[in-house]
Amino acid sequence: MGRDRIDAYLEAHRGDFEEQLKELIRIPSVSAQPDHDADTRLAAQFVHDDLAAMGLNAQIIPTKRHPIVYAEWLGAKGKPTVLIYGHYDVQPPEPLEPWNSPPFEPTVRDGNLYARGATDDKGQMFTHLKAVEAWLKAEGSLPVNVKFLIEGEEEIGGANLETYVAENHAKLACDYAVISDSSQFAPGMPAITYGLKGLAYFEIHVQGANRDLHSGTYGGAVANPLNALATILASLKGPDGKIAIPGFYDAVKPLEDWERAEFKKLPFSEAEFQADLNVGELVGEAGYTTLERKWARPTCDVNGIWGGYAGAGPKTVLPCKAGAKFSFRLVPDQDPKTVEALLRKHLEAVKPPGVTVELNVSQGAPAVLVNVDSPGVHAAARAIEQGFGVKPVFIREGGSIPVVGLLKRNLNIDTLLLGWGQNDDNLHGPNEKFSLADFHRGIKSSAYLLEELARPS
Ligand code: BES
Ligand code: MN
Ligand code: MN
Repeated sequence: MGRDRIDAYLEAHRGDFEEQLKELIRIPSVSAQPDHDADTRLAAQFVHDDLAAMGLNAQIIPTKRHPIVYAEWLGAKGKPTVLIYGHYDVQPPEPLEPWNSPPFEPTVRDGNLYARGATDDKGQMFTHLKAVEAWLKAEGSLPVNVKFLIEGEEEIGGANLETYVAENHAKLACDYAVISDSSQFAPGMPAITYGLKGLAYFEIHVQGANRDLHSGTYGGAVANPLNALATILASLKGPDGKIAIPGFYDAVKPLEDWERAEFKKLPFSEAEFQADLNVGELVGEAGYTTLERKWARPTCDVNGIWGGYAGAGPKTVLPCKAGAKFSFRLVPDQDPKTVEALLRKHLEAVKPPGVTVELNVSQGAPAVLVNVDSPGVHAAARAIEQGFGVKPVFIREGGSIPVVGLLKRNLNIDTLLLGWGQNDDNLHGPNEKFSLADFHRGIKSSAYLLEELARPS
């Protein structure tokens, strides 16, 4: 039986897989920082070489910034084609001080591998490489055709993948897309994610006078851009937690009754969630639970703010400029471009006098919602049940993965979002981790998935 040989290969190579993953993680492929450009190329090369060594036709595609790795094995005539996406780039590791072991020296503690990129997304992506390797090494063939699309600009919302996908419809054509770049619901509760939020990210610059002024001699007579910025930012949300931009909710698809009922069935403790964060109370849009707010309602957050004097001691300055980064997480069927237009209109209405305001868009991605009742989802549920020993639950997530929208728009393909991570994996933060047990269960589930997708029902 093929499964026995696959299982035996996976069992025999557990140590090898872990060592190879550590090698990939040691490459500090931080896409945001130009001084790591050589490292992103090394990471792309590593992924390419691994795929080529197991027998795929692999290539490195240069872009204006970080290369894309594409690889294919198309020997399963008449069988479906599965496109597997992942990203080899990682978030900056800073601040370094809170890390208990250096971010690019993968370290195992309590069964977890600690390092930047451990879960997001090197460890999760690698599960699919090793699953394909197991089939090719143990069986000599794959049950389906496989295409890998591994990019290096996910964490910076790069536009190069969008161009590549738009220009390569035929090359990327597939029956199913698979991504592991999200989380399980809880330890021992693997999940299939059927919804992700979108993103509309902005930077605002507020300019007042032509120079910094004495706040005593000019204060009260000249607009203060920091005060103006505070007014503008405060106008984005009402006291009920609702976004106060007129028209903002027009395209929002309401949560369906069955979803609210399913969310309520999940073992989620608001009290534990709150205690873990050490906050006195949880806040958000009135009328919705924490899971509903996190997964299925749009949000607005200020991500950074600057201006004036923030050094030691007081300085009575009336600054001449201020700025902020802020973003909206979107839900179906909101469109980032429409949100931008509504925001611009709102800014004109609320802008205090005496300042000029400039708004720059830095990122946009639509939200996604996929059909939970499809042959691909059924196959994925069977594969996860066999790989993890329990049936998956169905969840939505608050994060964004821009390629999912690209695949839908360009190839009309719904993606299977099979996250192997945990909510407390500290992705983007210090001490990022990934459970090695989940790493191996993920590999196993992925190996079984290839077979399940060959005979969907
Ligand atoms: N893997 C995450 C997205 C994610 C996190 C999905 C947790 C589900 C659960 C991805 O690498 C990420 O960080 N995405 C960015 C997107 C942005 C840079 C366009 C995000 O969500 O902030
Ligand atoms: Mn990711
Ligand atoms: Mn990320």
